Amino acid sequence: MNSYKIRDLLASEENIVGICLDGWVRTKRESKDVTFIEINDGTCLANLQVVYRHDELDEAMAEQLRNVTTGLAVQVKGDLEPSQGQGQKWELVSKYLLSHAAMEPDYPLQKKRHSDEFLRQIAHLRPRTNKYGAMTRIRSQMAWAIHDFFRQRDFFYVHSPIITGSDCEGGGSVFRVTTLPEGQKAPLTEDFFGRWAGLTVSGQLEAELMAMALSRVYTFGPTFRAENSNTARHAAEFWMVEPEAAFYNLSDILDLSEEMIRYLIAYALNNCQKDLELFDNYVEKGLLDRLEKLQTGLYHRLTYKEAMDWLLKSHEKFEIQPYPGSDLASEHEKYLCQSLDGPVSVYEYPKAIKPFYMRLSDDRSTVSAMDVLMPKVGELIGGSQREHRLELLIARLHEQGLSEEDYWWYLDSRRWGSAEHSGFGLGFDRLLMLITGVNNIRDVQAFPRTPKSLEF
Ligand code: 4AD
Ligand code: MG
Repeated sequence: MNSYKIRDLLASEENIVGICLDGWVRTKRESKDVTFIEINDGTCLANLQVVYRHDELDEAMAEQLRNVTTGLAVQVKGDLEPSQGQGQKWELVSKYLLSHAAMEPDYPLQKKRHSDEFLRQIAHLRPRTNKYGAMTRIRSQMAWAIHDFFRQRDFFYVHSPIITGSDCEGGGSVFRVTTLPEGQKAPLTEDFFGRWAGLTVSGQLEAELMAMALSRVYTFGPTFRAENSNTARHAAEFWMVEPEAAFYNLSDILDLSEEMIRYLIAYALNNCQKDLELFDNYVEKGLLDRLEKLQTGLYHRLTYKEAMDWLLKSHEKFEIQPYPGSDLASEHEKYLCQSLDGPVSVYEYPKAIKPFYMRLSDDRSTVSAMDVLMPKVGELIGGSQREHRLELLIARLHEQGLSEEDYWWYLDSRRWGSAEHSGFGLGFDRLLMLITGVNNIRDVQAFPRTPKSLEF
């Protein structure tokens, strides 16, 4: 017997004899003469119906079938035939079922809709629900899409380190890495690296070094931030995609970011249709229409100053009142996207609210930063043209109270062969929120890490 996957069986053009299939029971229905079992193997949203005619079963098999409950892992064998019933094209007519392992009673996932909050408490089981199965498949597809996008544009995939000795974003939200015994005071020189070490908050600085040799690179990996903001859009561990390109200026990187978002959304619409329909039905009505609009619609570009003027002119009551020079709070980002009815890229920010590595403008008051704000998720992308001029970079380090010694290797890249370059970081988990309409980051990650929460 051949081993098959449900996705392929449901797409079959003809009857198939002699199928062997492994999966998990989603439901069982029994009548006097027939038992129907719906099986899912994770390869697609749909289940395959398996039909047992009681008069064709011996007593041992009938007993096996009586013991089948929701959640059981089974192997079934039989023939794929056009379904007699409605709702599915194919069904598997079977006389054989093997249980892979016995089930204990009280399986928490019964055939009903469970709340997001309940499912978060059983994150170890929730991939088995329709919604998280779909989420997991879309996540996997989008990872492929990222690689496709960059491969088509001559970007090399590079791996930046997870353990670092520097803080790229300067926000002070770095998780420390140490092997010093708990509760003991010991000098850093006795620690594993003999110095301070932390988990990366961004692979940007290393990506810049690679771009200075390979022209175009991107990183795609886990990123860590010990931000104590318990919001629906922040996680302590998340995945970031960070392209970095030599000889790109701010306008080039703005173009790349917009092209990338359109590409990723088109990829989702073309490759994840059935799974997206689930989110359109149960999470956000009109999701598919929204995505189509994002794929082809207008992307606005405003300087920070224009965006600020727009906010100040509005008669909106904000909780945090914006003022020239203030950072944009998420309610401001939301207002910009809502009032302009679409994505908004804001660029050229005051230097005081941005990190040291961004290129200073000629009047020295702003930096070549860009943020891409999206409806529903707010900031999806943050990036900039980098400061490639050594003296100005050193001055910015000092201004921000950072030391040249800690960044000597980064400064070296400006000493020899320096050139204009630019890059950005896209939050992969926020991309999934955008694409599925799910509004809590805890529900797009399999095992979310947030303040006071590390169960699994
Ligand atoms: O704007 P950020 O902080 O930019 C950087 O880290 C730059 N070094 C990137 C670069 O230029 N190479 O972060 C980039 C994106 C944000 O726009 C957001 O989508 C996501 O990363 N992000 C988070 N996602 C989930 N949880 C968090 N705590 C996040 N912090 C940032
Ligand atoms: Mg940012």
